[in-house]
Amino acid sequence: MSVLFSTLFSRNQIPVGKTVNISINPISGALGAEVSGVDLARPLSNAEFDAIHSAFLAHHVLFFLDQTLTPHEQLAFARRWGDIHVHPYVEGLPECPEVLEILKTPTDTRNFGGRWHSDQMFSPTPAMCTMLYARELPPVGGDTLFANLHAAFDGLSPGMRELLANLKGYNVGDKAKRYGGLSRKELYGATMSAMKVKEPTEAVPTDAYHPLVRTHPETGRKALYIGSHTQGLENFTDAEATPLLEYLQGHCVRPEYTCRFRWRDGAMAMWDNRSVQHFALNDYAGHQRRMHRVTIKGDVPF
Ligand code: SIN
Repeated sequence: MSVLFSTLFSRNQIPVGKTVNISINPISGALGAEVSGVDLARPLSNAEFDAIHSAFLAHHVLFFLDQTLTPHEQLAFARRWGDIHVHPYVEGLPECPEVLEILKTPTDTRNFGGRWHSDQMFSPTPAMCTMLYARELPPVGGDTLFANLHAAFDGLSPGMRELLANLKGYNVGDKAKRYGGLSRKELYGATMSAMKVKEPTEAVPTDAYHPLVRTHPETGRKALYIGSHTQGLENFTDAEATPLLEYLQGHCVRPEYTCRFRWRDGAMAMWDNRSVQHFALNDYAGHQRRMHRVTIKGDVPF
């Protein structure tokens, strides 16, 4: 996909409105569009796939409405986008191991994904895209927020962009400093009882350095590539790195760079981890929320 493509398909041009028989309607000025008129349970035509792909690059997160998907159908749609990225810390469904169940029970106090992050930044090849399908929703609450990391980069001063140009963030997947070095197993136990944690095999790296300014491999746009997995900067002391990372993280999620999706039955979100952070709200105590998630393999950030 060339940069020319992205210029042609920028957010304010196509694909808003009708493409093929698919309707694509933005939900905020920053990012996000609802998609209707397509049934993801059946194979897509090439024209449908192209329209969705264009919308994905233009809007960064798509919300497909009125879907009825089994785990295998969700997986088949996901495979159209690339190979499946298997989560190193969370078990998949027994009948479909590539699909993770994100479950918060009425008695759990913490939720999975309840911090601003981009998926799998701790991997040398972070997930390109995540697909999250709603299976059981609380009566109210449990929305997901998204932030546009291109807009965040564009909103920095020239001086800050220059400062960040050659910096690398250090990203970890487990035993993070902010959790006092506790492992996911120790953390999830009582407070996220329903999540099935596993230990990564030794072959799977769980920390990685990535450029703070990431170039999107399909559109050529630059993004401010940080998230809650980022806990240091290459060649910086913690005392130097922490205030800068805190400033940048706060900047990324300024309200004007975000959108918020209120889930409804049959919705599936699909976001681009190369240009988006997300945050799962934990505001539905006493209720259950169950989602099915599939991630697609990505490449080495540059
Ligand atoms: C996640 O971080 O993948 C979970 C998002 C959500 O449950 O809304």
